[in-house]
Amino acid sequence: MELHIHKDYADLSAAAANMIIDCVQENPQALLCMATGDTPRLTYQLLAKRVLAENIDVSRCFFIALDEWLGVSPDNKGSCHWFLQEYLLRPMHIAPAQVHLFDAFAKDEQAACESMNQLIAAKGGIDLALVGVGMNGHIGFNEPGTSVESLTHVAVLDDTTQTVGQKYFSEKMEIKKGITVGLQQVMAAQKLLMMANGKKKAPVVSRLLTGDISNQFPASLVRLLPQAVLMVDEEAAL
Ligand code: PGA
Repeated sequence: MELHIHKDYADLSAAAANMIIDCVQENPQALLCMATGDTPRLTYQLLAKRVLAENIDVSRCFFIALDEWLGVSPDNKGSCHWFLQEYLLRPMHIAPAQVHLFDAFAKDEQAACESMNQLIAAKGGIDLALVGVGMNGHIGFNEPGTSVESLTHVAVLDDTTQTVGQKYFSEKMEIKKGITVGLQQVMAAQKLLMMANGKKKAPVVSRLLTGDISNQFPASLVRLLPQAVLMVDEEAAL
């Protein structure tokens, strides 16, 4: 894993957008697995701006969501669906045929997992995964203790995730379960970009970098991966 420390959130986000553009220019048919949350918001805004301004061809890329809260409507501004549409897909004029997001109301959750697994496999794996890191070290909804062999699955959310997750919603939400691309699939990405910014992430980044490498703190596993880049700002690096 490489560690890149950037001055601030703006620099970090510009560097991340750059990496995504490099990936798409090298492989116009890239499969991109995209996180949501506070961390990547500016990256997506900068990415969309550059894609339009520089006429970068994203018409053959394919986008998948890293995760979703089960039972949260796609119209809810706290849903991953809404976030990706708002900041990434709509601004870049991505066609519905280039996107596979999770159905938060899937009647058959196993079938929803299986269709994501099949899609990832059919495309030969993920080319670039952009992930944040949770306060408990989760990657997507791969919570502490998740098997490194896991494929897309339904996760019972950790207490930390349920509590921290309230920040995305305008009113108190019941968020007990999520659906997520699995650790194995994320860790097998050709390029894994993990991002963290701000003071509150400093203890998480410190544990990620210096603690045990273990699925009890999934983000630490990224240290094992030569193709991974951890991008942080100075506040998170302290
Ligand atoms: P955040 O979430 O970007 O809102 O900090 C990160 C995560 O929980 O993975």
